[in-house]
Amino acid sequence: MTNIVVLISGNGSNLQAIIDACIKGDIDGQVSAVISNRADAFGLQRAQQANIPTHVKSHTDFSDRESFDQAVMSIIDDYQPDIIVLAGYMRILTDGFVNHYLGKMVNIHPSLLPKYPGLHTHQRAIEAGDSEHGSSVHFVTPELDSGPIIEQSKVSIDAHDCPQSLLAKVQKAEHTLYPKVIQDIIAGRVVWQAE
Ligand code: GAR
Repeated sequence: MTNIVVLISGNGSNLQAIIDACIKGDIDGQVSAVISNRADAFGLQRAQQANIPTHVKSHTDFSDRESFDQAVMSIIDDYQPDIIVLAGYMRILTDGFVNHYLGKMVNIHPSLLPKYPGLHTHQRAIEAGDSEHGSSVHFVTPELDSGPIIEQSKVSIDAHDCPQSLLAKVQKAEHTLYPKVIQDIIAGRVVWQAE
């Protein structure tokens, strides 16, 4: 059974979609732990509800990114995961962290990368006058939001859309996209290749 560790910072709706897909058998694996850098992340409750072990490691307890990432790495490595899934994990990662999991760590980013890396992607897409927007799942490499894209889901931007309505559309699509990509990796339909 493929062993998945999920990192979150907030609501955890993508985590929920992944947990549900594991239970349904759409993902041939199990979430063995959920780690959050915020104690108030609602996703921790979702994990506990599903009897999944949770860990909180607050970045505010560390003086630098390196020591924080080392602490998170030691939690992750205790579970010996096959895949590390970033699901709304709002931390910039150190190169050491990324390289430790190279080829095994994926992220979902709320834009059609390479457009709009970084924050406020929904607002930026609307302000640019784009007619479509979406999400990208990519392997994580040291440069922020720049690793090889595995798959994207697109949504239309309509005249009445605001950042909130667009976020809702994008997240609904993410909940189908992310479990599918995770299963594609598990089934060997997607394979990491160094660029
Ligand atoms: C998701 O929409 C994800 O694409 C985004 O955060 C949201 C988390 O929602 N990720 C990023 O912005 C990463 N830079 P969730 O906690 O409900 O899954």
